[in-house]
Amino acid sequence: MIDNFGREINYLRISVTDRCNLRCRYCMPPEGCSHLIPHSEILTFEEILRVAQAAASIGIRKIRLTGGEPLIRHSVVDLIARMNEIDGIDEIDITTNGVLLGSMAEDLKRAGVRRVNVSLDTFDPEKYRLITRGGDIRNVLDGLDAAEKAGLTPIKINCVALRGFNDDEFKKFVELTREKDYRVRFIELMPIGHNDLGGDFGFISNQEILGMFPELESCGPQKFSVADEYRLPDAEGTVGFISALSHHFCATCNKIRLTSDGKIKPCLHSNEEIDVKNVLRNGTDEDVRNLLINSVGHKVAHHMLNEGAAPINRDMNKIGG
Ligand code: 5AD
Ligand code: SF4
Repeated sequence: MIDNFGREINYLRISVTDRCNLRCRYCMPPEGCSHLIPHSEILTFEEILRVAQAAASIGIRKIRLTGGEPLIRHSVVDLIARMNEIDGIDEIDITTNGVLLGSMAEDLKRAGVRRVNVSLDTFDPEKYRLITRGGDIRNVLDGLDAAEKAGLTPIKINCVALRGFNDDEFKKFVELTREKDYRVRFIELMPIGHNDLGGDFGFISNQEILGMFPELESCGPQKFSVADEYRLPDAEGTVGFISALSHHFCATCNKIRLTSDGKIKPCLHSNEEIDVKNVLRNGTDEDVRNLLINSVGHKVAHHMLNEGAAPINRDMNKIGG
């Protein structure tokens, strides 16, 4: 389906839970998920599958599951296996913190997951514990190994760049792509939800990071990629830069989002939400389909973050990245 600005919308991100087994400082308040969405408000698997089915019927071809942490949703592997049966869905991916990948990677692959994006901001166990408020990095490193063995590849590594926290490790992230076919992506800190970093860490721009690595070569413009991609000469993997504030990805934006409590978000950086749960609980499949068509019609040309728009009032864990 083509939106009002000529963009083909073929990608649906589904947040299957707002809960998480970590509490990253840039994502959640210190007490963790404090305002959890009650279970009755969370879409059931049947409801999620109805949305996915309707989405496929209007041209969605790719689905990404996010959270919170998608892998903590009970029986998520079954959900994926059923989603994989939907006609028209060509690709299912997952964004995860990797903590549970060690035990789940094989099952996920079998259920139909193509590849995974794993969040990892540091290689230092102590710093990992600090930024995630208690996480154990060994789980993630095991998870990455398991994902690679299971063929959930190429693996993307999402690294939120924070001055004073992990800037001394950027080189290690970049060097990692020499040997491994990882797609490392530096993500600029977004003015979204909680940013309880303590006074010490802060925003660092992609521009500045890129400036640290003159040997990186541009891979050229990437269709439908939200990252500017670069590569070290002869490296296996790539290094990407994701900028929340930049407009230039809006022009090729191909996605809509479904939150775990049943709202369609036409744009990540807007507070506009369209309630699909009520239609799921009281309407027909045709009503759901029409609502999705309507939602695509609500996509804006570009976000307003640079024009002083109010910060997003949902935490990241309730949107799903
Ligand atoms: N700024 C930038 N990235 C964020 N993420 C979560 N909150 C923020 C934020 N405030 C990232 C996570 C994960 C992805 C889903 O979103 O690190 O990689
Ligand atoms: Fe969990 Fe991801 Fe938020 Fe960290 S950033 S608390 S892993 S949802």
